[in-house]
Parts: sequence; C-alpha cells; structure tokens
Amino acid sequence: MKFKISTGACFIFFSGLYSNLLLPAMELQAQNINIPIVSQHNALVLQVDGNKNLSTIYFGKKLLDQAEYNNIPELYKQGTDYTGILNAAYTPSGSRNLLEPAITVTHADGNNSLDLRYVSHTITQVNDDVSLFSVVLKDPVYNFLVTLYYKSYFREDVLEQWSVIENKEKGAVILQKFASANLYLKAGSYWLNQYHGDWAKEMQPEESRLTHGIKTLDSKLGTRTNLFQPSVFMISLDKPASEDEGTVLYGALEYSGNFRTDLELDYQNNLKIISGINNYSSAYTLKPNEVFTTPAFLYTLSFTGKGNASRKLHQWARNYQLLAGKGNRLTLLNNWESTYFDFNENKLAALLKDTKKLGVDMFLLDDGWFANKYPRNDDHAGLGDWQENKQKLPNGIASLVKEANNNGVKFGIWLEPEMVNPKSELYEKHPDWVIKQPGREEYYFRNQLVLDVSNPQVQEFIYGTIDGLLTKNPDLAYIKWDCNAVIYNAYSAHLKNQSHFYIEYMRGLYKVLESIRAKYPKVPMMLCSGGGGRVDYAALQYFTEFWPSDNTDPLERIFIQWEYSYFYPAITSSNHVTDWGKQSLKFRTDVAMMGKLGFDIVVSRLSDHDLQFCKEAIKTYNAIKPKIWQGDQYRLSDPRAGSIASVLYVNEDQSSAVIFNYLVNNRYNEGSKMPVLLKGLDPVKKYTIKEVNLYPGTVSTIDALKVYSGDFLMKAGFNPDVNAERPSVVLEVNEVH
Ligand code: GLA
Repeated sequence: MKFKISTGACFIFFSGLYSNLLLPAMELQAQNINIPIVSQHNALVLQVDGNKNLSTIYFGKKLLDQAEYNNIPELYKQGTDYTGILNAAYTPSGSRNLLEPAITVTHADGNNSLDLRYVSHTITQVNDDVSLFSVVLKDPVYNFLVTLYYKSYFREDVLEQWSVIENKEKGAVILQKFASANLYLKAGSYWLNQYHGDWAKEMQPEESRLTHGIKTLDSKLGTRTNLFQPSVFMISLDKPASEDEGTVLYGALEYSGNFRTDLELDYQNNLKIISGINNYSSAYTLKPNEVFTTPAFLYTLSFTGKGNASRKLHQWARNYQLLAGKGNRLTLLNNWESTYFDFNENKLAALLKDTKKLGVDMFLLDDGWFANKYPRNDDHAGLGDWQENKQKLPNGIASLVKEANNNGVKFGIWLEPEMVNPKSELYEKHPDWVIKQPGREEYYFRNQLVLDVSNPQVQEFIYGTIDGLLTKNPDLAYIKWDCNAVIYNAYSAHLKNQSHFYIEYMRGLYKVLESIRAKYPKVPMMLCSGGGGRVDYAALQYFTEFWPSDNTDPLERIFIQWEYSYFYPAITSSNHVTDWGKQSLKFRTDVAMMGKLGFDIVVSRLSDHDLQFCKEAIKTYNAIKPKIWQGDQYRLSDPRAGSIASVLYVNEDQSSAVIFNYLVNNRYNEGSKMPVLLKGLDPVKKYTIKEVNLYPGTVSTIDALKVYSGDFLMKAGFNPDVNAERPSVVLEVNEVH
C-alpha cells in the first residue's frame, strides 16, 4: 500500500485532554489526517488518507512524539495491498474488499456493494479520564452512513468501540453483517486464548497459535449464550503472554445475545479482529432514516502480561460498568442444595433462624416457592406462574420477609423470569408468548421453554412480576435472576420479520432491565444461568454479581474462578460454600471467600466446631472483604502450572493484602516446596504475615511476629507452608510502622 504522507500533513494530537471538536473534512487542508486515540500507555492511531479511506495505522505503546505515528506505515514491507483497504478501520464489503468484512449490506435497489469514506470526526472530553471519539463515514454512491465510536478510558487503558449505522436511502437496506469493531494488529505471531464449557464445566481455557484464515468464536444459543463459548478472549502477540510478561489484548463483546468474533490472519500476516452481534439468522432490515446501534466491543492492551490487563479491566468495571461497583454486597445463606424443592413455612422459619445464627446478612429462598395449578415441586412444572404456592407458603412471601426481619436478617428470592414450563397456567393462557415454531414439535431444555421477550406484552409481564414482588414486599432485599434454557425453534408470534428475532429478544430484555433499574436502582441482583451460562459486561450494568457455575466443588472452583478473574473483578463472583467436593469445610469456605461469600449448607447439621468456624470465618471475611472486592488482584501461582494456587488482593495504599493459597495436587508429599513471590506490595514498606481463618483448635505454622520488607517478599518470596495437612492457607499481610 502506498501511504501518501505529505509534509503538510495535519496531525491532530492531544495528550489525553481533548477539547470538544468537530472537524469536517473540508476544513482539513492536508491529505492525511491522523486521529490518535491515546490512553495512559497505549495509542490506537487511525489515519484518513488522501482518498478519505479510514485505516488503522497503529495499535501499540504510546509514543512520546505523536507526530512520529506518521512514520509507522513505511516501516512495514509486507507486500501488496490489492484493495487499498486491508487495514480499514471498518471494512465494507462488495466494493474493493477481498477479506472478511465488518459490514455487509443490501441496498434498497438490491445492490450489495458498500464503500465507506471519511466525512468528519469529533472528539469530546467527557471528564478527566474519559474521552469519546466519533468518526463519520459515508458511501460515496449511496446515502448510507456509519459512525464509529471509540470511548477511551485514559487511566484504565480500556477502549469501548461501537458503530452506529444509518440508512438515509429512500428504501430499506438489509444489514447482512454489522460488527461493533474491526481491529487490526501487527505481530510476528498471534496466540489466541479462548474458552469453552458446558454445565458445571465453565471457562475451560485453550490456547493456540492462530493460523492463516479465519477462526470464529461465536454463539447461536439465543440466550444464556455463554454456555458453550463465552465472548471473552485474549490475543497474545509474538508469544503467549504470561502473568507479568508479554503483549496481550483482552477482548469482550458487551452483549448478552448471539455474538460472533472473527479472527482473520491475512496473507500479509496481520490480524483482523471483527466482533459484534452474530449475523446468524439475523439479517436486519433498516428502514429509511432508521439507525442501528451495535453493542460495544471492549478491549484493553497490556505490554506487561495478563495480570496488568486484568487489573485494568477490573478497575474499569468497578469504576464505570458494574452496578454498584464500589458498593456493598450481602453475604447469604441459600436453601437450594439443602432443601431443593422440598420446603414449607416451618422449614424456612428454621432456616431463617440458622441464617441469623450463622451471622450472614441474608437468607435467599431458591426455586420451588411458586405455582399452584401446576406446583413447582420439581423442574417439570410451574415456571411462569409466579404466585406463592399456597401449600408450601400459605402466608406468602410477605410473612417470610417479616420473619426474616424479626430475625435481623434480610430476605432474597429466586426467579427465572424469562422462562415457562409447558405445564403452567402461563403457557395455557398465553401460548403465543412462548418461543416455538408453529407446526413443529416442541423441544425442551430442562423441561422448559423461553418466553418471547421481543413481545412488549411479555416485557410488561416480566417487569410486572419483579415490580409486583418488590411493591408488595418493599423489604425484599435481593433477586437471583436465573435463566436455564437456550432458545430452540427460534420464532416469535409477535414479530413480522423473524430475522429480527434474536436482536429483538435482547432489546426486550435490556428494556425490562432498564425499567427495573429506573424504579429500583439499588436492589442487588445476581445473574445466574444454570451455572455460568450468562455473564457479560452489558448484563453487568444491571446486576451486582453473577453465578460462575453450579459446580461448587472447591477444587474445580479454584480453576473456574481463576479463569473468570482474568476478565471480571472478585466483587462480581458469587461463591457459595456447599457440600460439593471432598475438601474440608475450611477449604470450601476459603475458596468461596475469593469473591462474594455465601453458604448453601444445612447449618443445623454442622458440628459445634464447624459452626464456630463458619461464624468466625464470616467475621474474618467481613474484615478482609474490602481488599478482595476493591483491591488489586495478583495471580501469584497458577494451579495449571504447578501444585499450588495462590492469589493476592492488595489495597490501594499497599498497606494490607490477603493471600489465598491452595494445594491442587494430592500426590505424595506435594506442597509449597518453593516460596511464592508476592506482588503489588511497596518494596520499602515493612510487613508482618499472619495466617487467618484457621479451623478451631489448629495452630498456624506461620510466625506472625516476623517482619519482612516488601522488597524481600517480592524478590525472595514467602512460603505459605501449604501441604496435605494444610491444603488451604489464608494469609493476611499488614504493614508495620
Ligand atoms: C439453576 C441455578 C441453581 C439453582 C437452580 C434452581 O441450576 O444455577 O443455583 O437456583 O437453577 O432450579
């Protein structure tokens, strides 16, 4: 490709502080315009050439002299660009493009070609951290526009990118593909770290070198779309990044529906990342003057490994995205695994007393409390009939909330609002509210079907269910929002255009969540999906936490939580102590503490020592949770690489940290043979290290009086003394003055 760089080129540069600017093309004298989107360490540089093509010329470390970005293109001698738009910032199809497009359209006249040329751009400084860039592109032949948005978080080095597609033609245009973002990276090799999973096996990582051609990560499940493959991924450049070394990009689509990310390694050895809503079965008809806004694609680039990328993303999430990211969370006792569907008022009254006895903040009543004609006594019936089951709860939820209050604890409740059992009054009354193909046999996932959330009446029904509960019970303190089925036989009796179904479902869901949050901005809600089938940063705007997996075996959980922790901060992770797994109660509790702690055990069956331990553990947790929730996380020892898992959370002023250490290999004599190198401390500060959360009657082998420098702990390390006798060790590191 020939880059036309004239000496009179106009470089628009701001060192992170942008004024509000509108720069129409006509006013720009020079041939090339650079649009550097810079953050604390990074720069993404877009360039408009003399032909008004908008391309990505650089994504990497920020340069000191911004004028030098213009020298970048000539450094690459990778061969011929036969299209002139190989590095397009948003690749159109049907004109010169020969590779995977970001956007494909069929114009009103049936023509399939699109070309996009620069019109203008604006830069808006939102606050001292956030700036918003927008670049308007237009087809020179058709009255069809795309505006690319880049929201840059300076301190966090995070970018959100989305596009707004506008049809100004006289007739309808069909969007065949409509990505959120189109990145373009240059490196010697690219290493993809992706995830796959299933029920109880969430977040299984897989790393491979990308070969030429296209690798697609996607979901077509319609809802709970992460079940087999979440949209989060990492790309390491030149070599697989480690925790503290290497260049790595984290990417995630902020969308809860079908997604698609194409990673195309092109013939010049550059990598295009095109991510957005999955266009599978979703050609979208855009009427004249209609605008289509894509969800945001979220990414961060780190030059010092995965740990740094995670901490940036965690910070961004807590500061900007997550509901109550800096807020409180409630510890709880859940009854799912202790009662399943088999409970009544008396049993629950006893559990409320246990909640108080245990010392957690709240009791969470799970599945099984509703439906009368087809009582919810197992998972075959009742979903959709959200009235208290009169046999189990003759005095309703209200009396339980009151009883909870009498015990000095809060009360939360489980719902699965988007779902319906064929055996339900809801199905009988509103068969047209159910997603199913007319004339085809129904096909079930966990004996249930999904409601057609694209239908405003269904949206009203879901909103009404939640609103009704919260209006009748203003003290209801928490909702666990479950979603246990995928969408089969995608068809809406409400929609005229079935190709809009998957998109309208999500729009409907977000609309409901918006309305709920407008009226109830603070009620904490857990995003659950038969385990971890549903978590993404769009949903987390409305939820305070998510359920990573139904698999609560602590050994499994160490691995699952470890992988989630790359992308989501600990405060989002609901972890319950249950009877899964062979580990001790202490081990299970320690693991559950690495996030938001809950219990799902039969408290009345605990031995005195076990109960004493749990009560003390909750006190310990309450003391250390600010560090876990708001601190910086450092993954110290990878359970996939050795016998020890070790994770540290340190507070902002580096005066206090907590370290969780586990034995993950039960072979003979395994243990922490080598010291673990601590991270994130102040080298100059002096610290003591004390073991906390000990089981009653055990004596720690750690000398709590010994003083170490941060320098020593980070260079020479510390041995948590983990072994078969001490398979789970929690340490508190505190500054001494
Ligand atoms: C899903 C959830 C569980 C529990 C059950 C109830 O599987 O993940 O935690 O709430 O539903 O049916």
